[in-house]
Amino acid sequence: MESLEKLDKKFIWHPFTQSKEWEKEIFEFPVVISKGKGVYLYDSRGKKYMDGISSLWANLHGHQHPSLDKALSNQLKKIAHSTFLGLTHEPGIRLAKELIEVAPKGLTRLFYSDNGSTAVEVALKMSYQYQLQKNNLKKSKSKNPKKLEFLALKNSYHGDTLGSVSVGGIELFQKKYKPLLFKTNFVMSPHCLRCPFRKKNLPAIEQQVYSYSNQKPKPGDFRAQTACHWQCLKEVEDVLNKKNKKIIAGILEPIVQGAGGMIVMPEGYLWGFANLCKKYNVPWIADEVAVGFGRTGTLFACEQEKVTPDFLCLAKGISGGYLPLAATITKEKVYLAFKAKYEKLQTFFHGHTYTANPLACAVSRANLKIFKEEKVLSHIKKLEVVLSHHLKELLQLPQVGQVRQAGIMAGIELVQDKKSLKPFPLSLRVGRQICLKARNKGLILRPLGDVIVVLPPLAIKEKELVFLMRGIKQTLQEFFVSPKFSV
Ligand SMILES: Cc1ncc(COP(=O)(O)O)c(C=O)c1O
Repeated sequence: MESLEKLDKKFIWHPFTQSKEWEKEIFEFPVVISKGKGVYLYDSRGKKYMDGISSLWANLHGHQHPSLDKALSNQLKKIAHSTFLGLTHEPGIRLAKELIEVAPKGLTRLFYSDNGSTAVEVALKMSYQYQLQKNNLKKSKSKNPKKLEFLALKNSYHGDTLGSVSVGGIELFQKKYKPLLFKTNFVMSPHCLRCPFRKKNLPAIEQQVYSYSNQKPKPGDFRAQTACHWQCLKEVEDVLNKKNKKIIAGILEPIVQGAGGMIVMPEGYLWGFANLCKKYNVPWIADEVAVGFGRTGTLFACEQEKVTPDFLCLAKGISGGYLPLAATITKEKVYLAFKAKYEKLQTFFHGHTYTANPLACAVSRANLKIFKEEKVLSHIKKLEVVLSHHLKELLQLPQVGQVRQAGIMAGIELVQDKKSLKPFPLSLRVGRQICLKARNKGLILRPLGDVIVVLPPLAIKEKELVFLMRGIKQTLQEFFVSPKFSV
């Protein structure tokens, strides 16, 4: 019988994976996952690994959580799937109510879809149609709206469908598809550690963990100094000021730009962004697909700066990492702008077959319950301290350029030269190689380029987090002293 590895090599095309590397990797580092329990994954040979990336930033309470398993099997006894187009069901209704109750104040209407990209796609289409139906956008002489645009941040990632790629600010993922994309105005990423406006004037902050919760403004703090004049927000204002009748909406990942490299925003940026959008009457979209559900220490990242977006996009952790589900939550005024006689054709013509899948909704309800019952947010506070301590230790290593953290998500950026932050050559694939080596220490990791991501399930125990961080440190130390490694 052919091995699973051989069958995989023969039949599968893996996402975000260079097949040339994968077809070797699957035999050199074979990991066919067959089971998960708590924060651990087990492969088909019975080897145990810690899930250091929460199965792509989704798992929250561990694998095989009894309450989630129970919610799923109970729902399965009733029905696995029925459509939400023209019909409705209890898990979908109840979950919507429960999510709206905990969402930032002012969000009242929930539209389901089934993954992060579609949650964003919905927000993009909905904001466009809303603006159109409210007559908010500038018309050309032919009465059609002028060419319309979005506003987004460099280094942002919002998914892989063409709409979400259009507002994505990572050149690598956009470049190939550019001729297919709509116009977006990209403003600078609020990435203080690499900001050209702070470099000369401000004390080095590379020596500390760049942690969101450490960034409380105080005299002498780099943000209290005026050297940068919030240039990043100034760029937002410039676009909004110049083009406000052409901009459909602004979009950003609040607090952390995840796939862009775990870039942590300075405290105040999110508030500034939200208020500029308000000032120029431009709706804004908070993509909380990665940062939602406790990751940054609050249930939603927007809570950190007490802002309410016009559209809130949720996926990944919404079902505790169990099943594909997503939601776009918006305000009543948006909902009402679509409510009209059918022949006015103001319906939101969008929907997916598995929209609001009842199994996923039932599990998501149990997910929300766990947040309360298991005091998840106070557990994250403790984890945050442990994580920060170990990140600080990593900063001593010569190849660690920067470490960034918000809540229980962090990035460790590896560089060739610490002083200039010069990156390693792309061909070395340093991040990838390190993550593969970490398997020998029983860790599953996945990098973002040369940024090692630390994003374990929220349920991880403090001592397990120590194990994860020690494993990363040892892997880095062994990798960089290995005679096989040279630049
Ligand atoms: C901020 C953000 N938005 C959207 C997405 C896309 O989500 P999905 O992979 O479920 O389509 C991701 C995925 O990593 C993300 O991090």
